[in-house]
Amino acid sequence: MLANIELHIERDPDDLAKRATLVTWQALRATKDNFLIALSGGSTPRRYHQQMAQLDREETPWGKVVVLFSDERAVRPDHPDSNYRMARETLLDVAPIALSKIHRIPAEEPDLDRVALEYEALIKELSKGTGAVDLVVLGLGGDGHTASLFPGHPPPPPGRLVAATPVSPTTPLTPRVTFTYEAIALAKRVLVLVAGGDKANRLEEVLEQRGELPLQKALAGRTGPTTVVADLAAAKTILARRRSE
Ligand code: 6PG
Repeated sequence: MLANIELHIERDPDDLAKRATLVTWQALRATKDNFLIALSGGSTPRRYHQQMAQLDREETPWGKVVVLFSDERAVRPDHPDSNYRMARETLLDVAPIALSKIHRIPAEEPDLDRVALEYEALIKELSKGTGAVDLVVLGLGGDGHTASLFPGHPPPPPGRLVAATPVSPTTPLTPRVTFTYEAIALAKRVLVLVAGGDKANRLEEVLEQRGELPLQKALAGRTGPTTVVADLAAAKTILARRRSE
């Protein structure tokens, strides 16, 4: 396993969400100025968002939080497939985060290359030119994708932090806008949430650095810390391998 990856195996998706919330809270408390967090889509972050929304308001410096997204599907922001909509319902409408500090990706617009370029410019501005987001949250698809970096897709153009993608091979079948490998490499910390037995073999491959899955590629490019939080079902192949060694 890569030296800069910390793996937490939790009993179930609820404990996974609690651990992810603790990791986020600690990173938030340790950050002096603004805390740029890029949220992920998918179903696993729902519980994590709900836990975050319950954080003690006295002990949580919500005023520092600036919300970004690590990917978005090409749908309207009120569409059931919108990552922004999911985050709004589970976190953003509940936690005390100013609207001016929530930056969704307007992927419902027709020109996704332009949307990606503008979002990249925003990230550069918010990060004072470094492009380094404080915490990038990612998931793992059953095919090994992360954010909207899919196996078999052409790699994003070099030097870019955000890129438009072709139609995704998994549902929803839309083009998307995504953080690139470079944006993930630059992030000060990455938090990967993995729940469910359908991810078990892929997660083991990623952590053992076998193959060329997008999540593996994304993490291999990093020098900063990465925390992977998996539930028991997602960790079953890793645990079986450890037992057999
Ligand atoms: C998306 C994603 C995607 C997701 C994985 C895992 O917009 O679809 O950000 O990369 O994180 O597909 O999704 P689950 O949490 O639903 O397994």
